[in-house]
Amino acid sequence: MKSIVVSIAVAAGLMIAGSAMAVDMPAVGKAKCGACHAIDKKLVGPAWNDVAKRYAGDKDGEATIAKHITTGIKDDPYWAEKGIKGQMPAKGMGASDADIKELAHFIAGLK
Ligand code: HEC
Repeated sequence: MKSIVVSIAVAAGLMIAGSAMAVDMPAVGKAKCGACHAIDKKLVGPAWNDVAKRYAGDKDGEATIAKHITTGIKDDPYWAEKGIKGQMPAKGMGASDADIKELAHFIAGLK
């Protein structure tokens, strides 16, 4: 039993070490959004890099992103065109207002 716990801890450590090379998703994002989002690839929802591209140069981009995380978003034509269909639940998987503010800032700051 103890050895199982140790090998899980080692595996988790390796995963963290591996992903630390690229820009890493904040812990709250992994916990509350990571089931559907990654930074650099499409999962259920769009890659956050692509969200940053969508709002690049839009001075209200960060506020719009925060709004869409808060209310959820569904069948948006911009994403439908990129082959993403579906619905994001309001506040992801239980993000607080403070989490949403942090995540919107993080996403808007990606390149
Ligand atoms: C159950 C899956 C799921 C979860 C959990 C989820 N999302 Fe999404 N997300 C989606 C889908 C699907 C879309 C595309 C919706 C559409 O096409 O209208 C999306 C779209 C988005 C967008 C693009 C909004 C825009 O204006 O274009 C952002 C930003 C985003 N999600 C952030 C988050 C954050 C932050 C969290 C965690 C707090 C989260 N998502 C949790 C599925 C999810």
